[in-house]
Amino acid sequence: MCSSEFNSPSCAEAYYITNFPIGGSMSVNLLTKRLTLDNFILEMMSIPPQDLQIEQLQDLVGQLDLNDTLLRQHISFSDRTYARKLLCRTSRFDMLVLSWHPGQFTTIHDHAGALNVTRVRSGTLTARLFEVYDERSDREKLVRVIDEEQLGRGGLATVDRHHIHQLANTSDEKLVTLHVYAHPLASINVYCPNSGQVDRVALQYTLEQ
Ligand SMILES: [Fe+2]
Repeated sequence: MCSSEFNSPSCAEAYYITNFPIGGSMSVNLLTKRLTLDNFILEMMSIPPQDLQIEQLQDLVGQLDLNDTLLRQHISFSDRTYARKLLCRTSRFDMLVLSWHPGQFTTIHDHAGALNVTRVRSGTLTARLFEVYDERSDREKLVRVIDEEQLGRGGLATVDRHHIHQLANTSDEKLVTLHVYAHPLASINVYCPNSGQVDRVALQYTLEQ
């Protein structure tokens, strides 16, 4: 609904009434802001990249009402590794769909200064955060897990500019996730859990379907 019924919502925004059960047969109506992809892009372009905070990106990705037909066109599983499909790239952000068979996982890595929010579309995501506990040099850092969570449909995992993380499908069901990176992700730093070696890895995306 894009309506003047509510106090000056921008026409770049839509609001829906969502019923949340609060026990028994009672529920409470909350106004839930929803963003089309167009409006998500407009919101992202309105914030200077250096000013964007992880909480803002989390809110925007949580509000994104992405057309599911568009998302489904980017689901593509691979037996070799999790599959990455670029859905949208602007000067401010990348949006990708990742498809995971059970047992597939990422390296331990950071995003070289980019913010990242991951939203679970289906399945269960395992998200781990790491810290450096022994920094021997710029290219040799030993890391350890400091947090792990399991996220179901609609769950959001956040990675701030300095965070080191790993994502995995530790369930026995397929997993599909939506990822937004701001700034667009050109490279990551990969941390070897055994040697501590840190390697800069350039990323490439294919536009092929
Ligand atoms: Fe990542």
